[in-house]
Amino acid sequence: MMTRTVYVNGRYLPYGEAGVHVEDRGFQFGDAVYEVCEVNGGRLVDETRHVQRLARSLMELAIRRPMTPAALSRVMRETIRRNRVTNGLVYVQVSRGARPRDFLFPPDHVEPTVVCLARSIPPGRLEAAAAAGIAIKTMPDTRWARCDIKTVMLLPASLAKEAARKEGAREAWFVDPDGHVTEGASSNAWIVDKEGRLITRQADIAILRGVARTTLIDLLKRENIELLERPFTVEEARAAREAFVTSATNTLMPVVSIDGQPIGNGSPGILTLRLRAEFHSAAEIADA
Ligand code: PDD
Repeated sequence: MMTRTVYVNGRYLPYGEAGVHVEDRGFQFGDAVYEVCEVNGGRLVDETRHVQRLARSLMELAIRRPMTPAALSRVMRETIRRNRVTNGLVYVQVSRGARPRDFLFPPDHVEPTVVCLARSIPPGRLEAAAAAGIAIKTMPDTRWARCDIKTVMLLPASLAKEAARKEGAREAWFVDPDGHVTEGASSNAWIVDKEGRLITRQADIAILRGVARTTLIDLLKRENIELLERPFTVEEARAAREAFVTSATNTLMPVVSIDGQPIGNGSPGILTLRLRAEFHSAAEIADA
């Protein structure tokens, strides 16, 4: 279904009329942060963690908090309602505001720009992808040194996904100079070793601390599944029993090949699919 209404700075505007100023700092400097939150069966998934991470991203970049968490929560829900989203996502972006182009920050009275949009994703599309599993292409991590902040500076991610797509891969995995996987272009990277242990990189400044990652860690504790938070190499990943990525909307998405080489028997992993099925039982679920 079409996105009909977009929230922009306090107003709900028809999609075709929604816009921000040409001198918005998000547009000129990538000076903006964002969140993507899953809407599942008309419920908001892990809203608290997403809102908290947004607050952290704003704080790290010293962007003024545009509204209280309660107000943001109302905006997200109203945007979901107006677009009749039952399954899909809600996207929130906050920039430092609009101001004649200047590298230096604008004065304090300049209001941050806030945009919220909601979009449906047919559940069948994700289920089909999960049933088949996705291919990964690895490439050097060319991003900046603060990937723990969820900024809209997504050009390296866009280039990586485009390069991956040209080779039939749905996601790119970034690799650091030591040969360790950092994370996906828009997801966290996981493998399951021969002993059945899960391995994902520790949440340092080289990766985004994914909300789905955190929720999955809660699920693993509940299920007594061993987790190692450490870097892993591309070679380790190729030899893994299973591999998958996590992100909002995708939750767990099985990985069936890396750089053209099959993982395990080349089909989605048993443990991956089980954890995918159980994921929402560990998440915070609230009426949208
Ligand atoms: N991307 N790492 C990166 C670089 C990401 O962009 C994302 C999310 C994640 C997973 O985070 P979470 O589990 O909180 O969704 C990890 C979103 C979905 C996007 O850009 O569309």
